[in-house]
Amino acid sequence: MRSLLHLGFLASHNGSNMQAIIDACREGRLRAQPAVVISNNSEAGALARARQEGIPTFHLSSRTHPGALDQVICQTLLDHQVQVVCLAGYMKRLGPQTLEAYRGRVLNIHPALLPRFGGEGFYGEAVHKAVLAAGEKESGPTVHLVDEDYDHGPVLAQARIPVLAGDTPQTLAARVLTQEHRLYAETLQRIVTGEMVLEGLVL
Ligand code: GRF
Repeated sequence: MRSLLHLGFLASHNGSNMQAIIDACREGRLRAQPAVVISNNSEAGALARARQEGIPTFHLSSRTHPGALDQVICQTLLDHQVQVVCLAGYMKRLGPQTLEAYRGRVLNIHPALLPRFGGEGFYGEAVHKAVLAAGEKESGPTVHLVDEDYDHGPVLAQARIPVLAGDTPQTLAARVLTQEHRLYAETLQRIVTGEMVLEGLVL
């Protein structure tokens, strides 16, 4: 039997998407193994969740590693045999060394239907506010490959939900987040089965 796909996570805050992926691995819906969790924020819920799960954690930031952060992140991922990197609410840009080493193998989830409502400044509530202000009929998460620009790489998967009359940024965010949790794990499983092919990933 093939060994499990090794996943590395970078997360800055709560880590509910990371948790959903960990749960999918544990429940056998995703044939993968969470190998390491990195955060720029020592207080991140994602780090606490990972410790609880017995997954190795690292607090790596421009303060802990001035001038060497990119190199240290890349080495930490390589040291843990990470094959696919999952950004899960990671608020920093990845550096060139990590992007090059994992080119085409870094995924992100965004809480809107890219290419709309993405890019610098479109995070958290601002995304859902903008969707509502534009009078959109639908929203939903996007899983995409990461390149040098925020929310820019090729789209791998999207889920659509209706925007409801009376939605607030909070109610819309909550419904989109539920879809995020499902979509991220399902997309990874499609990669594991080979239904979705990532260039540069040897299974
Ligand atoms: C999610 O809405 C995700 O789309 C965005 O950041 C948020 C992270 O939430 N990139 P969580 O930390 O996974 O709960």
